[in-house]
Amino acid sequence: MTDPHSDIPATTGRTGKENLLGAKIDDSAKSLGGPIPGVRVCVIGGGYVGLVTAAGLAEFGHNVVCVEKDEQKLRTLVKGKVPFYEPELERLLKENIANKRLSFSPDLSESAEKRQAVFIAVGTPQSLTGRTDMGALELVADQLSVALEPEQVVVIKSTAPVGTAAWLRNRLQESFAKRNGSKAPSVISNPEFLREGSAVYDFFNPQRIVIGGDNSAAIELISHIHRLGMKKQAPIVTTNNETAEMIKYASNVFLATKIGFINELSGLCDHLSVNVMEVARAMGMDTRIGGEFLQPGPGWGGSCLPKDISEYAGLAQEHGLTMHIAQAVQDANRAHIAWVANKTLALVEGANKPIIGALGLAFKAGTNDTRHSPAAEVIRRLRAADVTVRVYDPQASDPVLQQQLGYEVCESIDELTEQADCLIVLTEWSEFQFIDWERVGQAMRSRNLVDARNLFPPEALKRHGFTYEGVGQF
Ligand code: UGA
Repeated sequence: MTDPHSDIPATTGRTGKENLLGAKIDDSAKSLGGPIPGVRVCVIGGGYVGLVTAAGLAEFGHNVVCVEKDEQKLRTLVKGKVPFYEPELERLLKENIANKRLSFSPDLSESAEKRQAVFIAVGTPQSLTGRTDMGALELVADQLSVALEPEQVVVIKSTAPVGTAAWLRNRLQESFAKRNGSKAPSVISNPEFLREGSAVYDFFNPQRIVIGGDNSAAIELISHIHRLGMKKQAPIVTTNNETAEMIKYASNVFLATKIGFINELSGLCDHLSVNVMEVARAMGMDTRIGGEFLQPGPGWGGSCLPKDISEYAGLAQEHGLTMHIAQAVQDANRAHIAWVANKTLALVEGANKPIIGALGLAFKAGTNDTRHSPAAEVIRRLRAADVTVRVYDPQASDPVLQQQLGYEVCESIDELTEQADCLIVLTEWSEFQFIDWERVGQAMRSRNLVDARNLFPPEALKRHGFTYEGVGQF
């Protein structure tokens, strides 16, 4: 495997080309020892998208202020600490705070003032209806409508429903008409394609940059902001706002569909004793299909795919359409999670007060995020069958989830495996590769393993006397 972080710039202090747009060279940056053709940028929101964007743009040479209104988070950020687990982000933050290109503030109006581009990266979670909760965006829109000047450019980075840019433009226009009759700032849709766990790598190695808007100068400014300092020039797709918004949803729904397909196939392969990993490998060699996102697992989840597929299906419904594929992908995911849980329960059937040890809680490796984690859903089902569940995750913990589901938290793999009847691998943490299976087997009451990420070669486990169940892997 290649090192996913090898293309992250190792040093800062970049100087260089002239600003393509003639955008003003930042005076504060100039005083740091050499002209930096940076743009003055404001990023609203210090979550994982906002922070990666703010630190990444600062690394490019822009002067960035990131607005975070949560006081506790802000206190953490100004010290250069990241309040969640995301590889490489803390280093990037610290370096750019030290070179004074990145700062933090609780004050949106003051921070947005005189910034050429204002990126909105606030949360757009799923509401109870399954559609997008626009609360945070609405609040920001209200504040920006009094804080901005007409020549500034607003950029929507948050994943926001198709039509959000038009809605924001109208909102700003109404307010500007009342304020001084001037034209409102341009609104650009610039969705992100960052994966949690490799968000910093993805920021510096984008496969494409999507910029939607109706003002060519604004589009050119945002293109420049992304291009400056980028080692590998990615294609920039310029389009209108609605198309840019749809590209984001279509991408995530398609990714969920692809994973859903391989997971469902793994169930059929399981019945037929066909190795799904070989099938996926050969399928992926066809460039029309592609090898990525064909890794079977316990189901797809996280803070993005589930909410985005739900918004997409909901939007279609609002327009009188049924997205049959999206619905089937959601149903198939639920069924797959249930199948993984049932497979596990079958291995402990007949055991007296069975104990199952779960390796992993995060929705995937590289993050401590447990939102819509398939691991949690499997655990929920195991607990519903009245089984004792212990959980070990090297990064993730979730006291609310623990309270809800009633599982035990372990601090080590040794603690997890002691007298366990079965283990289940739910998150593909690389440290699990180093498990000493003989030692683990000796500590367990019965040697059963459900490898829901197909992490281990079945033969190796069988040699240690384990009953091994993969997902379509034997
Ligand atoms: C996803 C997209 O991949 C990003 O491009 C997008 O920017 C992001 O959502 C977002 O909208 O912000 P992320 O939620 O971080 O990124 O996670 P993914 O890497 O897409 O994984 C999603 C789920 O699918 C996880 O549960 C993961 O374990 C599972 N998965 C992924 C598989 O089971 N198999 C695979 O081959 C790939």
